[in-house]
Amino acid sequence: MIIKINVMKTLTEKRVIDALSILHVKAENQKHSGSVSLPNAERFMAISVEQGNFLYLLGFLAKAKTIVEFGCSFGISTIYLAAAAKDNGGSVITTEMEAAKWGPALDNIREAGLQDFVTLFQGDAMVTLQDVKEPIDLLFLDGSKKLYLPVFELLKERLHPGSIIFADNADHAEAISFIDYVTSANDRFVTASLFDGRSIIIYVV
Ligand SMILES: C[S@@+](CC[C@H](N)C(=O)[O-])C[C@H]1O[C@@H](n2cnc3c(N)ncnc32)[C@H](O)[C@@H]1O
Repeated sequence: MIIKINVMKTLTEKRVIDALSILHVKAENQKHSGSVSLPNAERFMAISVEQGNFLYLLGFLAKAKTIVEFGCSFGISTIYLAAAAKDNGGSVITTEMEAAKWGPALDNIREAGLQDFVTLFQGDAMVTLQDVKEPIDLLFLDGSKKLYLPVFELLKERLHPGSIIFADNADHAEAISFIDYVTSANDRFVTASLFDGRSIIIYVV
């Protein structure tokens, strides 16, 4: 641990810890009982605790006020991002395509006490994120991998020098067009591979 625990204000609140603990246990149990056979509407497919802590730190240290997430699922990653947004005086805009996940995700975010810091759209990110007008400080890509590049294209005018993009499942074949795009433009992006290649962090120059 590099950062003093008392800096991570919201992430150390009991409500947040309790909500995340319950959700991570559910997500892990689901993964170990063969979640691939479940319909998408029921699957967590969540980031790990380590990735969540990293996301929080990223948002907090970058002083990110406007955080956009593609792929909320049941809200695990959204809670980490919202904790950073709250500590920075900002907010999170996120979106989930599965109608069945929208209500439970909102309940989970509410359980953590972070509902005032999150706008959760229900629908395809290519539509719901069209209306994002504010400069994006942190963009988290975790929806359909084949849409990483189209979602990036949709939002690129909202990114600015210093914006950070964090993408999960960067090692997935369907993410290749996005990964190729950002790693080949090294005059515009600084990239680093993290979590054994599972994630990539991109700094907009
Ligand atoms: C890997 S899961 C997200 C996990 C979540 N970020 C977490 O860590 O808790 C991907 C989610 O993105 C959603 N999704 C996929 N394509 C989408 C799209 N075009 N628009 C919005 N959501 C989408 C899926 O329904 C799924 O719930």
